[in-house]
Amino acid sequence: MSIKVLGTGYYVPPKTLTNDDLAQMVDTSDEWITQRVGVSVRHVSETETASDMAVKAALQAMEQAGVSAEDIDLIISASITPETLCPTVAGWVQKHIGASCPAFDVSSACSGFLFALDTAVSYIVRGKVKNVLVIGAERLSKIVDWTDRNTCVIFGDGAGAAVVTAGDNYLSSLIYTAGGDEVLKIPSHAGNSPFYKNEPDRPYIFMDGQETFKFAVSKIVKDIKEVTEEAGITLGQIDHVVTHQANIRIIDYASKRLGISKEKFFVNIDKYGNTSAASVPMALAELNASGRLKRGDIVALSAFGGGLSSAACIIKW
Ligand code: UT7
Repeated sequence: MSIKVLGTGYYVPPKTLTNDDLAQMVDTSDEWITQRVGVSVRHVSETETASDMAVKAALQAMEQAGVSAEDIDLIISASITPETLCPTVAGWVQKHIGASCPAFDVSSACSGFLFALDTAVSYIVRGKVKNVLVIGAERLSKIVDWTDRNTCVIFGDGAGAAVVTAGDNYLSSLIYTAGGDEVLKIPSHAGNSPFYKNEPDRPYIFMDGQETFKFAVSKIVKDIKEVTEEAGITLGQIDHVVTHQANIRIIDYASKRLGISKEKFFVNIDKYGNTSAASVPMALAELNASGRLKRGDIVALSAFGGGLSSAACIIKW
């Protein structure tokens, strides 16, 4: 026994920012961003918090799943940009959807949703709960340095959610962490302690793009091979690949190295940019909404990013 997905949902805030808009803010161009990253436009939140966006994605997933707030037994949310550390994003969602179940966040940057999903599976398999609301939600615009062209052109805001329940469709999974801050780092608020003796950090995303890129390509390929083997299937049997939307060139490399055609990779980075923990559930929800997912299809999910971390799983739809 494992899980099956009952419903999915996603939400992005209304304000859009094009590459030309960004070229007014930093020394960049539509051509560079489109060719090197694959983003044309991203959404940025003016007033909505990560949890506000999470609520909207969650309600959509619940409606599709045909479950109400009383039917949800656990809420797990992944975010590196909660508006408040306490309550958690999951706690805010619990309040706003009118649920009364336990709710907590997990934090593993862009791999966060798949870490949250794997945690949900464990609770379901132990028989502790039946229906779990799993969310990834980010307001990355809050922690981006808008004067740094290396990072500000990449990220976007949004949320994705899934309602999962007991079933037999989670065929295999892995989660991975290699702790360290040399490649990717997001400092937390330092506060105003008069006793603080560390060097103050810049409170923005720091990313060594090329090192992250190499990690991403090698992990997508290795992870998908590993979960495919664990599921007892071949790469050729995979119908859809939903990866973290970080850079279109990462997806291109993964497609070539895995020998899985590009058509099987779902791509929406052009519309939303990199939304970290929201990226995989947003892509899964959008793929589901497109009607291309058929019962019995084999879906490979894969994510990678800060931590460093990565995660992957195989789901039979
Ligand atoms: O979600 C977490 C996981 N994140 C990722 O997976 C991100 C992985 N990394 C990447 O996607 C890419 O490394 C970036 C998109 C971040 C950068 O692309 P790149 O092709 O690795 O560029 P680069 O850093 O090697 O820079 C190449 C050139 C440099 O100029 P010079 O030194 O060759 O003259 C940069 O200064 O491009 C320049 N550059 C830009 N030019 C115009 C860097 N950013 C920009 C920009 N616009 N926004």
